[in-house]
Amino acid sequence: MNSFADRTGIEHPIVQGPFGGGLSTVELLGVVSDGGGLGSFGAHILDGQGILDLVAECRDRTSRPFNVNLWVPQPGEPRAVAAADAIRLRPYYTALGLELPQGIETSNYADQLAAVLESAPPVVSFVMGIPDARFIQAARKRGIRLVGTATTVDEAVAVEAAGMDAVVASGSDAGGHRGAFLRPVHESLVGTFSLVPQVARAVAIPVVAAGGIADGRGVAAAMTLGADAVQVGTGFLATTQSGASPVHRSVLRSERARTTVLTRIFSGRTARGISNRIVRDMAPFENEVPAYPAQNALMVPIRQHAARHGDPELLNLWSGQAAALAGSADAGEYLAELIAALPDRSVVVR
Ligand SMILES: Cc1cc2nc3c(=O)[nH]c(=O)nc-3n(C[C@H](O)[C@H](O)[C@H](O)COP(=O)(O)O)c2cc1C
Repeated sequence: MNSFADRTGIEHPIVQGPFGGGLSTVELLGVVSDGGGLGSFGAHILDGQGILDLVAECRDRTSRPFNVNLWVPQPGEPRAVAAADAIRLRPYYTALGLELPQGIETSNYADQLAAVLESAPPVVSFVMGIPDARFIQAARKRGIRLVGTATTVDEAVAVEAAGMDAVVASGSDAGGHRGAFLRPVHESLVGTFSLVPQVARAVAIPVVAAGGIADGRGVAAAMTLGADAVQVGTGFLATTQSGASPVHRSVLRSERARTTVLTRIFSGRTARGISNRIVRDMAPFENEVPAYPAQNALMVPIRQHAARHGDPELLNLWSGQAAALAGSADAGEYLAELIAALPDRSVVVR
């Protein structure tokens, strides 16, 4: 009763990575959970009521375990956008005829935690930090399984010490935001092949390998490295059931996805995505854009405009380094391809 699958009650140790920023869908979560994996929903932009509604919708969609994911807020996050913050983006606002946002819309973390406790989804995962001991205790009492995310061995040890049930070892190959929380991101960029075996050696809780796994070979390799389960993000983002815009999905399946970068320009927090014009044009200002969520608030109108107009050059094209390995465009078929590659778990080396 110690494996990730046993702890979470799933049949096959394949997790569909949660996507924040509106890219998760209940449909994708449902297809993956119904298929015996763990479907996930990135809920960090939802308020308390939004989380209550989401969990009810997930329960309607699937009778099997699913995962709701939250971001732990970082100390000192800005609460407002200053006029000077927008200086580098003004040319885009002018060219696109957009209005600068007046403030930052963020969700209240305490409300999110209260909603999670009230609705008690089967699994809750966290990134960017570790929830406090009181929440962990209360969640355990309600039978919620808790998963933390680590980008370094030290973070994995901290996740285990906090009493979480499992840890996602997120290599720097992964798409989306980096979750580093003990040291700066640039000191926490460990590739999946280096990270997973070291984390597996350092902790006793199940390790979920994430980052650059998009086909059966990656699944088999991660399990050989000591992972107990795998978390696949970009490969599921490229399926028709994800919330990615058509233009994002088509770039993920093109040769352009071979070139990804880590950049702060879309949100104020370092994330991996496919390079495009705005990434290259803003690169000189990489270190001067304001911190998350201020830069995120400033970029939302530009990103929304780009998604509406199918313009890949101004869009946040989140992607990991293995997008080209993604399989079937249907999430159910893709999940079956990943499951077929799972090795006999009795031979996993720790
Ligand atoms: C668009 C996108 C959004 C993501 N949002 C979140 C998130 O909100 N919370 C989280 O824990 N992980 C998030 N991730 C990470 C994925 O859940 C997963 O760990 C990662 O994508 C695995 O690496 P891969 O992209 O190489 O498959 C995101 C990834 C992508 C591509």
